[in-house]
Amino acid sequence: MRLAVNIDHIATLRQARGDQQPDPVAAAHIAERAGAEGVVCHLREDRRHVQESDVRRLRQTIKSKLDLEMAAVEEIVRFAMEVVPDLVTLVPERREELTTEGGLDVRAHLPLIADVVKQLHEKKIHVSLFVDPVPDQVEAAKASGSDKIEIHTGEYANAQSEDEQRRHLQHIRQIAELGKRLGLGVNAGHGLTYDNVLPIVRISSIDEISIGHAIVTRAVFVGMERAVREMVQLVKSH
Ligand code: PXP
Repeated sequence: MRLAVNIDHIATLRQARGDQQPDPVAAAHIAERAGAEGVVCHLREDRRHVQESDVRRLRQTIKSKLDLEMAAVEEIVRFAMEVVPDLVTLVPERREELTTEGGLDVRAHLPLIADVVKQLHEKKIHVSLFVDPVPDQVEAAKASGSDKIEIHTGEYANAQSEDEQRRHLQHIRQIAELGKRLGLGVNAGHGLTYDNVLPIVRISSIDEISIGHAIVTRAVFVGMERAVREMVQLVKSH
């Protein structure tokens, strides 16, 4: 399993003062040095953290893979086609949310999503769809022509009891296996922490996990390099 590090909240800290520091691109370089095998950022329509210039600098300077999270809207699709990240992960976006709050409803928006997948494929950009752990959505993802899914682990992360957590974990495992059977790459992410990541790491059908908030908050106390190294150790422990 690979760890991809999301650097959005380094940019959140920078935007708090409208200054140049801390630089999310420098954080990405440190993450790579510490063993991250991918860098993730979310260019939101409201540009609340990552800016276009950050994505361009990431594209030019990182050595691992760049995964651009974005909504399936024309302006950002055009931007992605110009910058050509290694992977685009399509996510739903609502301006008032604090973070991405659920998976894409691929089934309901299949023609639109299939069209965006086709446009991105013309530039040889791989596409992943962020979906809840629900079979219908994985089958719709396959029908859209996407290359991968990213399983939303938020409900697992927010479970209020061990029983509930076990149930969500079981769904995630089944969905990861279904994704593989359909020939899709399988990523997972959202809300994963140093405390809850191990059961996810043990799911062999998951290729990559994407973690941001937990790593950046730990980095405030121990530094980015150590925060990433500690997570890499957990991810590589199985
Ligand atoms: N995957 C997706 C699709 C996301 O939108 C996010 C949050 O930006 C993450 C993973 C990372 O979530 P977290 O910051 O909770 O680790």
